Amino acid sequence: MTRHDDRGNLAIVGAHWGDEGKGKIVDILADRFDVVARYQGGHNAGHTIRIGERQFILHLIPSGIFHPEVRSVIGGGVVLDPLALLEEVASLGRAGIGVEGRLFVSTRCHLILPYHRSVEAAMEARLGARRIGTTARGIGPAYEDKMARRGLRVCDLLKTATLAERIREQVAEKNEMLAMLDQPGRIDPEPIARTYLEYAERIRPLAADTTTRVNAWIGEGKRILFEGAQATLLDVDHGTFPYVTSSNSTACGIPAGLGIAPRYVHAVMGIMKAYATRVGTGPFPTQANGAMGDCLRARGAEFGATTGRPRRCGWFDGPAARYAAMVNGMDSIVVTKIDVLDTFEEIPFCTGYRYKGSPVDEFPADAEVLDEVQPVYKNLRGWTSPIAGVREWADLPERARDYLKFLSDYLERPIRMVSTGAEREETIRLD
Ligand code: GDP
Ligand code: IMO
Ligand code: MG
Repeated sequence: MTRHDDRGNLAIVGAHWGDEGKGKIVDILADRFDVVARYQGGHNAGHTIRIGERQFILHLIPSGIFHPEVRSVIGGGVVLDPLALLEEVASLGRAGIGVEGRLFVSTRCHLILPYHRSVEAAMEARLGARRIGTTARGIGPAYEDKMARRGLRVCDLLKTATLAERIREQVAEKNEMLAMLDQPGRIDPEPIARTYLEYAERIRPLAADTTTRVNAWIGEGKRILFEGAQATLLDVDHGTFPYVTSSNSTACGIPAGLGIAPRYVHAVMGIMKAYATRVGTGPFPTQANGAMGDCLRARGAEFGATTGRPRRCGWFDGPAARYAAMVNGMDSIVVTKIDVLDTFEEIPFCTGYRYKGSPVDEFPADAEVLDEVQPVYKNLRGWTSPIAGVREWADLPERARDYLKFLSDYLERPIRMVSTGAEREETIRLD
């Protein structure tokens, strides 16, 4: 068993299609670190943290914020909606959690502007049945503008003398695009410019050259926890393209998203539920339709933390998790929501896929192939007794331990934590 996630910097990444409980695990681990940093995505993420009776859902601010001594970084790989950030800061403030002096937003973050949402809505409508089912936060179009080298960044937001003109240029282009997409109505840049000028003054105290700071902290021997949003199969390069988000949500995105050398990512911990879920469209080989899927959704309260959409539910997808372990170089794993499986007498575990009658050796690059594979299941015996809130490995029923051992052996990775409930303390630590 590798133990090197006990020291140095650690990445937390999702194994499947998101909502694995990354926020909870980051919150639990944060007090061993000096800094928690987001490196990609935006407010499409919804990370839930339950502390006692209080529940918080974070979209942009790293999940270490509840530990007063921990610094939080929003790295340059994140796309930033200033209003979403300001609202989140305000909502934490109302809960008595201040961010001043310990939340640092990269001046290199690309900005999300209202027209990104308009373009996204038009593109999704155009795709019809083939739509991605995005979170409608403007994430994809903001990353498109970054890659096309025209996007506006936090450093542009802060240059208030030229901001309005930059926004007018961008809007003129977007209006041409909306006309080409046969969309009625045109965007007026003036109210956007006025609002963003106001945001600029409120974002200014948070803005920083996080690249220089994070590298300096690494030089001082401070420990960084990298918080992935979304998950492996939503990664734009390694996920179920085109049904993905627009960033590198695997550990591969960390160096680019924070401006650090790859060698500073010392270990990777993969977070996975004891079953699988997906929001939005796209292939999901182990999806359980009918009563089983409904039961998982009801027991797991599987409704999106960002959009409230019901999540599609199914069984643990072994080949996908194995692929995720490989792509991220997972050193260890955390299995969450095991309590949701309490009532099942048999629990199907997908150990492989078949395609057109033959076993599949490699995780398919082609979403159409993945959509057609037949999962091969091994039925594991359920424990049929309540385990919510269990905190010791020894207190788990034997069959629950068997399920977890099977999963760990299948992935050839040690389990470092098992989550048995949403609350911080409802966790078995195996370190
Ligand atoms: P994230 O996006 O990966 O941070 O995960 P989400 O917060 O979107 O979704 C996970 C949901 O499951 C949240 O509502 C959590 O409060 C909840 N949760 C986390 N761990 C457990 C667990 O072990 N058992 C149960 N029943 N709920 C959990
Ligand atoms: P966390 O961090 C689950 C999904 C959307 C859609 C696709 C593209 O909470 O795990 P986007 O708005 O990013 O362009 O949508 O990605 N998606 C998520 N699904 N959890 C998330 O984040 C997600 N963020 C995006 O549903 O299918
Ligand atoms: Mg989530």
